[in-house]
Amino acid sequence: MTAYSAVTREVVRDLERLLGAHNVAVDPEKLASYSRDEVGLQFWDREYRAEVLVFPESTGHVSAVLAYADSRRIPVTPRGAGTGLSGGAVPAFGGIVMAFDRMNRILDIDLENLTITAEPGVVTAEIQAAAARHGLEYVGDPCSGDASFIGGNVAENAGGNKVIKYGTTGANVLALEVVLPSGKVTWFGGKRRKDVTGLNLVHLIVGSEGILGVVTRVVLKLVPRQEKVVDLLVPFSTVEEAIALVPRVMREVKLIPSSLEFMDRNSLSIVSRYLGSRLPYQEAGAHLIIQLEGNDEEVLSDQYERVGDLCFENGALEVFVADNRNFRDQIWKTRKNIAEAIIVLYTKYAKEDLVVPTSKIPSLLESVSEACRRYSLEAVNYGHVGDGNIHVNLLVDESCEDWHEAIEGARRDLYLATRELGGTLSGEHGIGLKRKAYLGMFLDDTQLEIIRGIKRVFDPNLILNPGKIVDL
Ligand code: LAC
Ligand code: ZN
Repeated sequence: MTAYSAVTREVVRDLERLLGAHNVAVDPEKLASYSRDEVGLQFWDREYRAEVLVFPESTGHVSAVLAYADSRRIPVTPRGAGTGLSGGAVPAFGGIVMAFDRMNRILDIDLENLTITAEPGVVTAEIQAAAARHGLEYVGDPCSGDASFIGGNVAENAGGNKVIKYGTTGANVLALEVVLPSGKVTWFGGKRRKDVTGLNLVHLIVGSEGILGVVTRVVLKLVPRQEKVVDLLVPFSTVEEAIALVPRVMREVKLIPSSLEFMDRNSLSIVSRYLGSRLPYQEAGAHLIIQLEGNDEEVLSDQYERVGDLCFENGALEVFVADNRNFRDQIWKTRKNIAEAIIVLYTKYAKEDLVVPTSKIPSLLESVSEACRRYSLEAVNYGHVGDGNIHVNLLVDESCEDWHEAIEGARRDLYLATRELGGTLSGEHGIGLKRKAYLGMFLDDTQLEIIRGIKRVFDPNLILNPGKIVDL
């Protein structure tokens, strides 16, 4: 275990000298609010607290702070908007939290190469909007996109609602400027669509949760924006019927929807309590959202009619076609607020991010029901069913005292079941602090040693986001 140095008054003064006093903060309220993410404070068995916050304004600032912290053995935890769900931005060892609120510029939209270049503190939705102004699309679409920073999306390899067609954040990252813990600045990748020149370091950084280097610039791929979008909202009596439809849409209608999302009855009930609104067939066992897009109205309507017919053949109770803005907004507001509804209405819960081969989703959901019976929990299941990525949320009755034990028992059982089904621990939220203890259930010692070895190459003094993914 590395012994880290404390942040003394002298350290704060040095940081002020490096960044300007206005970019350094130590007031307790700010320290507290920049020390948490959306895992929820009640989940942890202790309080994690930054000793000082820095708000770099440039790559030079990031480099100066890292070189300084490296020489003094002070931990540095990089942080986006705090919308993470793994404790990835929680300062496990105190020290410096490096927040990217002030590196929030879009630097370039390149209409020749179809790229956008941004600093890490740009809100994801601003990137989407900037691309849209040029008739283009940035296809990363995490549910927290109105708040999350693009740097955080890269660090966690955020997924979201369009992965089935366009891939995760990583699939849309072409290049990264990265500052290593030593302070050295380097670029991985470039504005090019192919690259086998050496190892793929861009994708080593993507999803590395800030343990290898700090991303200071991101070059993202853009695609032509499709002019017409239609969302189908399809209620089913049972979860099984809804899920059985997923492969058939792709195989039989021969298209990949831009989104294929799933919400069970409990998801709708919670989110409707939170938003005070309802979707049709609210009490149905499950709803699918199937989004199709294209440029030709007729082609699109032919496609959604074929998908609709298939839904009815598969037991759909109804097929609602949202081809107007209001209805579409209502559907997506509902879907995107489930996570927030749980945070607001419950205090004792665990939000999981399991992935299994899509054909195994019904078996996974059976295991969820079993675990809930065994530990007296309630489950809310929803998510990116087209990717096999289900957000299983385990909720505990507020009156339950020893709720951590129940949650840990259920998590372990679910992880075992997930592994049996050929699945994995996290699809898009990451390991961070929250899932670290369980990583060994999914990766063997050889794999864990490779990860530790890579960490040591990038960060020999172990100052960068220590305590995340693996222990050293
Ligand atoms: C979602 C987030 C929690 O899909 O990943 O709602
Ligand atoms: Zn998600």
